[in-house]
Amino acid sequence: MSREDFTVTPWHVEGNIDYNKLIEQFGTERISEQILDRLEKITGDIHFMLKRGIFFSHRDLNKILDTHEQNNEFFVYTGRGPSGNTHIGHLIPWVLTKWIQDKFHTNVYFQLSDDEKFFANKDITLDMVSRFTYENIIDFIALGFKPHNTKIIINTKNIGNLYPTTCQIAKKINLSNIKAVFGFTNDTNIGMIFYTALQSAPCFIENKPVLIPLGIDQDPHFRITRDVAPKIGKIKPAIIHGMMMPSLMGVNNKMSTSKKNSVIYTTDSPSTVKNKINKYAFSGGQSDIKLHRKKGGDPKIDISYQYLRMFFEPNDSKLKRIHDDYTSGRLLTGELKSIAIEKINNFLEIHQQRRKEAVKYMKEYILQ
Ligand code: TRP
Repeated sequence: MSREDFTVTPWHVEGNIDYNKLIEQFGTERISEQILDRLEKITGDIHFMLKRGIFFSHRDLNKILDTHEQNNEFFVYTGRGPSGNTHIGHLIPWVLTKWIQDKFHTNVYFQLSDDEKFFANKDITLDMVSRFTYENIIDFIALGFKPHNTKIIINTKNIGNLYPTTCQIAKKINLSNIKAVFGFTNDTNIGMIFYTALQSAPCFIENKPVLIPLGIDQDPHFRITRDVAPKIGKIKPAIIHGMMMPSLMGVNNKMSTSKKNSVIYTTDSPSTVKNKINKYAFSGGQSDIKLHRKKGGDPKIDISYQYLRMFFEPNDSKLKRIHDDYTSGRLLTGELKSIAIEKINNFLEIHQQRRKEAVKYMKEYILQ
């Protein structure tokens, strides 16, 4: 794979992702200044992940805003494939989901595709997915969602709720659609082939338009859903696409649960975070201090900076100062890492406290 090559599918993300190219390849729309203005007029502010282009692309977001302006409701849907413990990259779409819920007073549905991860990974057992499901749910709740307007769907448990709609959808998808979109072969198990219908089903759980915040790797499923929707008399789901958080190893690696030292988990202790950042976080700095003072660092490829930009430093002027100081060489790599460590640990301290609370109320969220 050359430096320019990248792959983005729901089950495999690799390489140095060119998000502009993805917009073209997937046929989505860029989130324009105009749509940001529109959002700002309605909500009174713009979440930093939108302002900074962490969410950069969409399908039919304008229609969702039309719906809202016509005083009609929409709802929000997102999900998680429980293939491991939650890492900080998973939180990106969930945080935006919470913001949208608060600003637009919407219901939220959160799907745990335990079935999908069981089908997709030959080494994973149903017991393992069920443990990860539990852990992932706790992280989701810890972000502040409340049970009166948030429902969690666990596929293997809530199949009864989903199945009628899943059948409607499945009947309109044929094998060649699925092969064309996902590149499946004759060796692919039939669980995987059917699965898109299940991920689509919550789009129609309420008889209202839906908005789905997600990492752009999940878009292919909903391209299929959008083709099917009019055929079953439903509205096409709208989507807002986020970037993938890079792994500690560098900007051309997505965080992946399967590579332990490439990832910061929501349950990592302060010393683990410190160690991981200091030891593994790819640096955009120069090889020695003298050169760094002279030439400065490159925040674009610096993982500590990228984590601050994508998640941990919401304050724009503070982020700009870090950016400028690093670029000019005033701020050294070690100093930048210390800032990132402190910010991440501050976040995790609160998050881990909230996780303890979340465990107590979990049952109230599960769809009945
Ligand atoms: N397939 C997703 C994953 O592997 C999980 C998921 C289920 C999801 N439903 C979703 C993601 C809706 C985004 C939106 O993580």
